[in-house]
Amino acid sequence: MNEEQRLNKTPDGSEVKTEEKDYSQYFNRVYQPPSLKDAKRRGKEEVEYHDDFQIDERFREMGNGRKFHIQTYGCQMNEHDTEVMAGIFMALGYTFTPDRTKADVILLNTCAIRENAEDKVFGELGHLKSLKRERPDLLIGVCGCMSQEESVVNEILSRQPHVDMIFGTHNIHRLPNILHEAYMSKEMVVEVWSKEGDIIENLPKQRLGHIKAWVNIMYGCDKFCTYCIVPYTRGKERSRRPEDIIQEVRELAAQGYKEITLLGQNVNAYGKDLEDLDYTLGDLMDDLRKIDIPRIRFTTSHPRDFDDRLIEVLAKGGNLVDHIHLPVQSGSSAILKMMSRKYTREQFLELVAKIKKAIPNVTLTTDIIVGFPNETDEQFEETMTLFEEVGFDTAYTYIYSPREGTPAAKMQDNVSMEVKKERLQRLNKLVNETSAKAMAQYEGQTVKVLVEGESKKDPEVLSGYTEKNKLVNFRAPKEVIGEIVEVKVTDAKTWSLDGEYIGLVKQKETV
Ligand code: 5AD
Ligand code: SF4
Repeated sequence: MNEEQRLNKTPDGSEVKTEEKDYSQYFNRVYQPPSLKDAKRRGKEEVEYHDDFQIDERFREMGNGRKFHIQTYGCQMNEHDTEVMAGIFMALGYTFTPDRTKADVILLNTCAIRENAEDKVFGELGHLKSLKRERPDLLIGVCGCMSQEESVVNEILSRQPHVDMIFGTHNIHRLPNILHEAYMSKEMVVEVWSKEGDIIENLPKQRLGHIKAWVNIMYGCDKFCTYCIVPYTRGKERSRRPEDIIQEVRELAAQGYKEITLLGQNVNAYGKDLEDLDYTLGDLMDDLRKIDIPRIRFTTSHPRDFDDRLIEVLAKGGNLVDHIHLPVQSGSSAILKMMSRKYTREQFLELVAKIKKAIPNVTLTTDIIVGFPNETDEQFEETMTLFEEVGFDTAYTYIYSPREGTPAAKMQDNVSMEVKKERLQRLNKLVNETSAKAMAQYEGQTVKVLVEGESKKDPEVLSGYTEKNKLVNFRAPKEVIGEIVEVKVTDAKTWSLDGEYIGLVKQKETV
């Protein structure tokens, strides 16, 4: 216990957390808030690779008898970060609880991509206030992308005093020290590095499933699309070494995993920063496809860096699935320019033609933003026509959401929210119709499904995904969970397929 804590003891010896926070004392201790200005920098410093993570002797017993709970928002990258944090908690002796009312530590692993993602987290923090009141020694932490934003950290500091820790996406490996500090201190522990980012190889991971696994291949983003917060929250593009990735995938195959998804904010830039190697995503996929694991996917790709080598390798098929998620964002070249996407409508269509020629059976899905500042009716129509012209199976659609610190947030906008909502509705109608049509084509066909478990609605029904990522529900013995099976599709819905179980797929013809 330090001097400050001794002074804050109650007559019965318990510690008090004072209402009034004295931040001044904190500036020379664990108070390192984020800076958008620093997060914008892309310097020449080399990325540091570390493989020396270990749990300090002092912290080994920290979690004994304690439980943790992590609530995850946002993308797969966040889900995978949660697996790493769960691994660290368990290495500290904590156990996981799915019931947060029983937890001794609750983390919210947050997403900053749109305002509504942030609203959800602030709503949740409101709910946690009463839990903290009932159980004052509960620790509450905010981590993930929102904690990289200055405005969010300031808001939490001034309005959410029941939060005990805020730490950033570059500080995950510091979790033991941050927890230790939070137990010892009455002040909010804030540690958010706005650096460009390192790579730490040997962090423990507690994977949440035994069938599908995430594998990071790179971190960060240097694209700086004008609407996007990610380059600020996740640092600069930096690739893991190929040998580390290949080793991780080999181990997952040996453990019986059936599908891996390679993760990065912009996976197509993989390898560009490896100065001693001429090695790209195509080369990596070519090496990984030789590993005996039934399915390999990647997400998310940027059309600009989708090169011929990658297309050539994907065309080899095998365990490389023929579904590509290729975010286009808009069908208007003028809007794409304002978004700084660095391709035109025509170039995107050329890329699609090239992919389809090489992989005739390919399924494409995409992300689209409507209502970018000053988007005209004509420009929106170009998005509608592009969606049809490409023949996307489906799309994730969003209304543009201004993100503080990004260039687009400073643009004047003459489009009302009403018009934006109307556009989204029209686009969603088209997307739903297209998706239903794409699903209808499966009726009567036999598909290969990686069985993930019982369906959410009915435990008697099993569900899983095809290689093209279509959800399939069917009845079959529970033993097939974790296997790839054949299912005959009997009924197509807009977002899923119903079918009849045929039998197991033999090992070598999986996918
Ligand atoms: N507003 C709306 N949608 C956004 N996306 C990214 N930033 C924003 C924003 N500011 C969407 C893009 C991206 C997906 C993950 O989220 O379509 O591909
Ligand atoms: Fe959200 Fe982007 Fe962060 Fe993922 S990387 S959690 S999508 S802001």
